[in-house]
Amino acid sequence: MEKDCELYKDLDRVLITRDEIAAKVRELGAQITNDFRGKKPVLVCILKGASVFFTDLIREIDLPVTLDFMAISSYGSATKTSGVVRILKDLDHDIVGKDVIVVEDIVDTGITLSYLKKILEQRGAKSLKIATLLDKPARRKIQDLHVDYVCFDIPDAFVVGYGLDYDQVYRNLPDIGVLSPRIYADN
Ligand code: IMP
Ligand code: MG
Repeated sequence: MEKDCELYKDLDRVLITRDEIAAKVRELGAQITNDFRGKKPVLVCILKGASVFFTDLIREIDLPVTLDFMAISSYGSATKTSGVVRILKDLDHDIVGKDVIVVEDIVDTGITLSYLKKILEQRGAKSLKIATLLDKPARRKIQDLHVDYVCFDIPDAFVVGYGLDYDQVYRNLPDIGVLSPRIYADN
């Protein structure tokens, strides 16, 4: 998809290009390969936001990984967190004794991940690490949430693309961009 496409017209600007993303994802894949050498980690994709990042990341990890998927909701269609987290789809396999890496799209307030971390820790994983594509540290409300792997720290702006949505749209943008506030001004 080129940058003169229709979807790009709703962006204020591109924040992270597809090339920058690809380079970072490759780096993170190499780091995970190194950190988990000799192990068979379970990679857990948090749907739907992390799906694009996940499919790229797993192909940069040179280990016998297995995959699982989970869907949780913390946002309705708005741009602010509700603080309410629900499991919409649970893991297919149990994680007892496994090395688990949770793959998220973005850590914002941290409410979603700290909740998720708590439930997964209760299930008896041997280890639990968190990898996120984006981090907005300025908006953190849960201060003691430790995020093990972060591709990019970003400023406090609402971003879309590369899996991230606004009202379920824009996930298919290959780059990450700041959504123009006029798009959500009415909400
Ligand atoms: P938290 O619970 O506030 O950390 O919210 C994390 C979730 O909010 C992410 O998994 C996203 O689904 C959503 N989110 C937070 N900031 C953004 C953003 O800038 N763009 C798109 N989704 C976002
Ligand atoms: Mg999400």
